[in-house]
Amino acid sequence: MGKPKIYITRTIPEHLLEPFKDKLDFTMWTSESKPVSKEVLYKEAKKADGLLCLLTEKIDQAFCQHASHLKIIANMAVGYDNIDVEAAKNNNIIVTNTPDVLTETTADLTFALLMATARRLIEATNYIYNDEWGEWSPFMLAGSDIHHKTIGIVGMGRIGEAVAKRAKGFNMNILYHNRSRNIEAENKLHASYVSFEELLKESDFVVSLVPLSEATSDMFDMEAFQTMKPSAIFINASRGGVVDEAALFEALDKKVIRAAGLDVFKQEPISSSHPLTKLTNVVLLPHIGSASVATRENMLKLCLENIALVFQGKRPKTPIV
Ligand code: GLV
Repeated sequence: MGKPKIYITRTIPEHLLEPFKDKLDFTMWTSESKPVSKEVLYKEAKKADGLLCLLTEKIDQAFCQHASHLKIIANMAVGYDNIDVEAAKNNNIIVTNTPDVLTETTADLTFALLMATARRLIEATNYIYNDEWGEWSPFMLAGSDIHHKTIGIVGMGRIGEAVAKRAKGFNMNILYHNRSRNIEAENKLHASYVSFEELLKESDFVVSLVPLSEATSDMFDMEAFQTMKPSAIFINASRGGVVDEAALFEALDKKVIRAAGLDVFKQEPISSSHPLTKLTNVVLLPHIGSASVATRENMLKLCLENIALVFQGKRPKTPIV
């Protein structure tokens, strides 16, 4: 019997594959930057025993039925809203994600985005590039303070907790809302559990780290923005689907809230023609939460370890269910 065949939906560094090559036989999509077409994915998956995919691949019921012989789908992301987990389960396909290895890196980016938005860093950089810097003046590019303000974290999982740790270092008052209480965060970080409405009312910074699901889809709608303070800053580092983007645009344009920092969008990628790019009170990033070289390598390693374990008949390290 030959080695199990693994299809990888992007070109990833050879040195990451090296330690697994004696056990697994790899085929990769030929681009690092462009996603595999649906047609090629379906064709390659049919020939494979396992799949390493990214959040750009839609692993729905049709795919799971088409590739029901797959033993494992290893998703290179902690979020897995691109996968119909129920359909995978019904076809006996194991699904894994990449929690833990990206927690601190994603929390760093979330906090960087919060700081860049509060202190208007992108506007300030553009000031120089656009030759707008005349004389120094008292309120030139004056932004919002971060220290001693209230941060409201929606979704107090691993990344939420890591963001709260950073907020504590800035002497922030920490509120959170989550499906269930996070007693450890309450004890260690003095985070207070509040209702969604209270969090929106009280927070200077509303930070979304909630996974996308039916329950959280469009949870940040016009009503939510109207409940926030006019000085509030909204940060989203989870999934674009949790935000009604048209409502957010209106809220930012009409100054219902002060600003937003977004790393994720409903339909990615976005370009310079996206309506949000027309506003000055936003900071927009191309979904780079976990994008440090070390963390991206660790995410891929974890995917490969999960795949190798499954073909050794063992439990993967990070199964979703
Ligand atoms: C990235 O967004 C991830 O879910 O890992």
